[in-house]
Amino acid sequence: MSKPQRSVTVRVPAKVNVQLAVGPPRPDGFHDLANVFLAVDIHDRVTATPGAPAAPGTPRVSCTGPGSDRVPLDAGNLAVRAAVLLAAHHGRDPDVHLHIDKDIPVAGGMAGGSADAAGALLACDALWGTATPRAELLALCAELGSDVPFALVGGAALGLGRGERLTGLPVGGTFHWVFALADGGLATPDVYRACDRLRGRSPVPAPAADPALLAALEAGDARALAAALTNDLQPAALSLRPALADTLAAGEKAGALAGLVSGSGPTCAFLAADAAAAASLAASLADSGTCRTARATTGGVAGATTIESHA
Ligand code: C5P
Repeated sequence: MSKPQRSVTVRVPAKVNVQLAVGPPRPDGFHDLANVFLAVDIHDRVTATPGAPAAPGTPRVSCTGPGSDRVPLDAGNLAVRAAVLLAAHHGRDPDVHLHIDKDIPVAGGMAGGSADAAGALLACDALWGTATPRAELLALCAELGSDVPFALVGGAALGLGRGERLTGLPVGGTFHWVFALADGGLATPDVYRACDRLRGRSPVPAPAADPALLAALEAGDARALAAALTNDLQPAALSLRPALADTLAAGEKAGALAGLVSGSGPTCAFLAADAAAAASLAASLADSGTCRTARATTGGVAGATTIESHA
């Protein structure tokens, strides 16, 4: 046990998938992946304070920030599920109030819900003084969702299995990204289903990480990384949201090294050569009329980090 706290705030990054190779559907409904994650400098903040439950065994949760009206505030909230899971793991009550200050686009394919789950685990662990070993925290993350372990570790990593079996990857420099945010979201299960539908009966190779992409990450070489970006979910996301093709075309016309749909979409991600190119690309995209807004940022960045703790 460590000393319980009165309030703990954790910041957790969004991610972009620089490679998302998707295998055939498994009997459990998931897909085997070769999923290369990169954490980017867009963060949610999760604050845990002691509080009476909303209902027996269910923590109270509140949410502010863009799109927060679309975040469920019941037992289905991934941060709430994280607090309940950690409390059960330690045989205690989940008597906590969670506040989520969102900056990661909601249902945008940038793992915002997963980030909130990882943030809630870390914040509750410090609040309660339960000092859960890292390996146990990672196992709890994997129970909560395929992308949750990566939100805890950050940086860059290859995720195998459903994406939860992580190996950290070296990153040799800062990459400059622009994210074009869309109105509304896309539901991840719908996008995977569309992917299966579009593939029909064609054989699907076993997913594997691309050595050229891993080398580009390690070298910090934006042009080489741009040449290697792939997302097997992109055709599916475009089939559900055809207007995303206009966003991708606008980014490439405005000088992006390359663009792709981020994860299951609908956010589109563009690599830029440097910070100045990213700023001008973000301005062009914001003016293009093909997205709600665009923002420049960088990656990789650290995973979930405690930024405030009051005893
Ligand atoms: O693991 P997570 O809860 O984030 O997954 C959300 C949904 O995405 C799953 O229910 C499944 O439909 C789909 N998925 C998948 N294969 C994966 C990861 C997610 O089919 N490897």
